Amino acid sequence: MSAASDSEFTFTPETESLAQKVIAKYPEGWQASAVMPFLDLAQRQNEGWLSRAAMDYVAERLSMPLIRVYEVASFYTMYNLKPIGKHHVEVCTNLPCWLRGSDEIVGACKTFLDIEVGETTIDGMFTLSQAECLGACVNAPMMQIGDDYYEDLDAESTLAVLSELKAGKTPKTGSQSGRHTCEPAGGLTSLEHQKDLLKASGGAD
Ligand code: FES
Repeated sequence: MSAASDSEFTFTPETESLAQKVIAKYPEGWQASAVMPFLDLAQRQNEGWLSRAAMDYVAERLSMPLIRVYEVASFYTMYNLKPIGKHHVEVCTNLPCWLRGSDEIVGACKTFLDIEVGETTIDGMFTLSQAECLGACVNAPMMQIGDDYYEDLDAESTLAVLSELKAGKTPKTGSQSGRHTCEPAGGLTSLEHQKDLLKASGGAD
């Protein structure tokens, strides 16, 4: 059976092993609470999307009515209900990212990939989506690709990330502007005195 079959689905031994660890976190009788991690496991096994068979399998495993599983899978945008490309590019266009230039990031993606939002490239490498706040507003504008975040973007750094992925490379994740995580863009502005003292005493690098 293909891992991404649309008509049949069961967990592989590797996924089953992860599922057992998940289910062990819930007391007897509360297995339905594992529906979100189970759907995530199913999606990862199924090449990034949830087929009807995959959702039905999760419902059966957790003794849930099918509709309860469909409701969860269709509510959260982290679940994909149709096939997607190898790299799922999700550009945040919520207010903070929009104010910081997300239109430019979406435009750069559309130009580079030659697709519109919601489409997949012909070679199946990229799917482009818009997302509403991915929780990294402090480093806006940003995009998520797979499990990774790329932050402090502009058109140039967006194209660089996409180019590296297209070339089969692994781009640097996190801030693309050079700052460390979400430290002030203009450099540190506080606790400098304490840092110097710590350095002097050999307590900081
Ligand atoms: S608005 Fe983009 S990460 Fe929050």
